Amino acid sequence: LPGFSQDTGKAFTVATEPAFPPFEMTDQKTGELTGFDLELMKAIGQEAGLKITFESLPFDGIIPALQAGTVKAAISGMTITPERAQTLSFSRPYFKAGLAIAVRKDNNSIKSFDDLKGKKIAVQIGTTGAKQAAQIEGAEISIFDSAVLALQELVNGKVDAVVNDAPVTLYAIKKAGLPGVKVVGELLTEEYYGIALPKNSPYLKQINDGIARLLENGTYQSIYEKWFGT
Ligand code: ARG
Repeated sequence: LPGFSQDTGKAFTVATEPAFPPFEMTDQKTGELTGFDLELMKAIGQEAGLKITFESLPFDGIIPALQAGTVKAAISGMTITPERAQTLSFSRPYFKAGLAIAVRKDNNSIKSFDDLKGKKIAVQIGTTGAKQAAQIEGAEISIFDSAVLALQELVNGKVDAVVNDAPVTLYAIKKAGLPGVKVVGELLTEEYYGIALPKNSPYLKQINDGIARLLENGTYQSIYEKWFGT
C-alpha cells in the first residue's frame, strides 16, 4: 500500500565492514550502502521474510557483535574458517575467493609468497590476509582499518606488498582504477565466504534456504553479473 509502512516484524540487523568493494561499498551518488553482499543479503531477506537493516562496523568488531548478540548476522566477505566456526555459525558458502599478493607494477623482485620475507606488507585488521602475513619471516606488517587503505599505502610507496582477498584487489585495479598496481603469483589460499551468525542461530536454516532459492531462480546469477560481469 502506498505510503503505508507494513511492520511485519522486528528488524533483522546485519553487520558489515563497508569498505570492501565490490562486496560492500558506499554508493557515491546516494551515500547508501551497496555491493554484491548487500544485494545478496537483501534478496535473502526477501526470500526468508526478514526485514534487513545493515549496520556498519569495523571488521574486527563484527565477531564480537555477533557473540554479544547485538547483531543477528554479518555479511562482509567473511571467510569461513575452522577457528571462526568454533564461536559462530556460518551459512553455506556463497562465494569462492582466496588471498592474492599485490605489488607496484615496477616491482620485479616479489613474485611469490616466499619473496615476501623481510618485506613491508599492508593488511586489513582481523582478516585472513592479516593472519597469513603474520606468518612471514621478518616481515614488517602495517595494519589498516580497511583493504582500501592498505592498497592506498601500496600506491603511495610506503609498503612493498598487500595481502588481501583477490576479488577485492582485482576489482580495485580493474574497476576503481588503482594506479600502478598488479597482482603477482598464485592465489595463496582458497577461501569461501559465508554469512556469519551467532552460534546455533535459529535463523540459519532460513538463510540457507534463501541462498538455495536464489541460486535456483537465477537471482544469484544476476547479482553476480551485475558486480563481477564484464
Ligand atoms: N575474507 C577475509 C576475511 O574473512 C577478508 C574480509 C574483509 N571484509 C570486509 N568487509 N572488510 O578475513
